[in-house]
Amino acid sequence: MIFMLNIIILAAGSGKRMQSKIPKVLHTFAGRPMLEYVIESAKNLNPDSITVVLGHEADLVKSCIKNNDLNFVLQESQLGTAHAVMCAIPMISSFDNDDSNTLILYGDVPLVNVRTLRSLLDSCHAGISILTSISDNPYGYGRIIRNEFGDIVQIVEHKEANCEQLAITEVNVGIVAIQTEKLKKWIGIIFNNNEQREYYLTDLVKIAVDDGVIVGSVSPNDSWEVLGINDHIQQANIERIYQYEQAKNYMSKGLTLSDPRRFDVRGSLKFGRDVFIDVGCIFEGVVELGNDVHIGPYCVLRDVTIEKNTRIEAYSHISNSIMESNVAIGPFAKLCKGSYIKSNSKIGNFVEIKNTNFGNNSKASHLSYIGDSNIGSNVNIGAGVVTCNYDGVNKFRTIIEDNAFIGSGSQLIAPIKVGESATIGAGTTLTDDAPADQLTLARVRQKTVVNWKRPKKN
Ligand code: UD1
Ligand code: CA
Repeated sequence: MIFMLNIIILAAGSGKRMQSKIPKVLHTFAGRPMLEYVIESAKNLNPDSITVVLGHEADLVKSCIKNNDLNFVLQESQLGTAHAVMCAIPMISSFDNDDSNTLILYGDVPLVNVRTLRSLLDSCHAGISILTSISDNPYGYGRIIRNEFGDIVQIVEHKEANCEQLAITEVNVGIVAIQTEKLKKWIGIIFNNNEQREYYLTDLVKIAVDDGVIVGSVSPNDSWEVLGINDHIQQANIERIYQYEQAKNYMSKGLTLSDPRRFDVRGSLKFGRDVFIDVGCIFEGVVELGNDVHIGPYCVLRDVTIEKNTRIEAYSHISNSIMESNVAIGPFAKLCKGSYIKSNSKIGNFVEIKNTNFGNNSKASHLSYIGDSNIGSNVNIGAGVVTCNYDGVNKFRTIIEDNAFIGSGSQLIAPIKVGESATIGAGTTLTDDAPADQLTLARVRQKTVVNWKRPKKN
């Protein structure tokens, strides 16, 4: 007998409570759409097929999800969770044998652990097993009705429940593992004779019981695994849970965080030994931090590689850049668009570096803009130096060779080159290349006008 596993992910709903033009399953946490997490969990189970049921804004959802190895089916109108599953049935392979299972996941329940899903699948030998959880606030959930022996006999939707049933705290998470053959047999006999005129997937339970099948159940290790996202409050709650779990995982691998509750990774973070991260930092894309790297408070790093012993001080924003070892950045520095900072250099406060190679041991300590430039080694860039790289239409490069000194408050009009060991006098507006080893300056000589009087008011 061939064992098969099919997974169906329900994601057709619009998510009215999000009050958004974006379909619910594309709303994100930790920088990725919630549906991606569900698909990732599904893939971790190595199933034979994954079918995603789409409805509201189906084309948009499809185009936003990396969809290799996925089947998509369209549920034209959202007539209920059982109807959604029905739409996916044709995609499920028709090996009719008792050992083929189907797992039904919800696109808006993104944190379920793969271990929990495995134990749910292991528990569906009798035919069907459901994921349940004890909830402090069962409002809105289907309630699990058990008989005097503790066997599950029915799920009653919140809207249909009487007072006694509403008091039940064991709730239906929505996730079901079921033998494929039984699913195919039972799904067709679900009707919509209820309050909402919807086809309820939860009716499977009653049908199973009527067929003499004992309904299995499994509960998650952590109650947050089964939280759903229906509104922005639940979305924010899941964001914080996810970030905290991620932070604990990183700390267990040696990362020092001054506050794991004020730490956000929206991508992937790799780090060496003795890395310290202060409060309020955000990491996006792919970030790699070498040994002994120190990140000060409230920094934003996106697609950045930082080598050992480099320090990033408070409030620095760095994207698409590489810093070698022993570099000092910030506070309040901005680096972007392919900047490469070589070792032992310094980019100080209120300095912006864009698309620039910055050499070893060079410094731009205060208030500068260095764009589209090649800076050699041992270069000193004084306070307030600006590379004028843009003529309103095109961008040009500035080249500053080794050991050059650029006096404070200078403007370098690109394309331009400052030769090796050249000195540029403070306040120079440099329009032509400056020769190596010489002092170049371009400014009006200071004079004092004798007997000059300030004008007086008439
Ligand atoms: C459902 C369960 C309820 C459970 C709760 C847990 C039913 C009848 N009720 O209720 O017992 O406690 O989830 O969160 O199943 N969807 C479709 N097509 C549809 C309807 C829904 O694809 O026609 C999708 C939605 O996009 C969503 C999921 O199914 O991902 C759940 O639908 P939703 O309307 O949120 O169900 P609940 O009312 O929350
Ligand atoms: Ca829901």
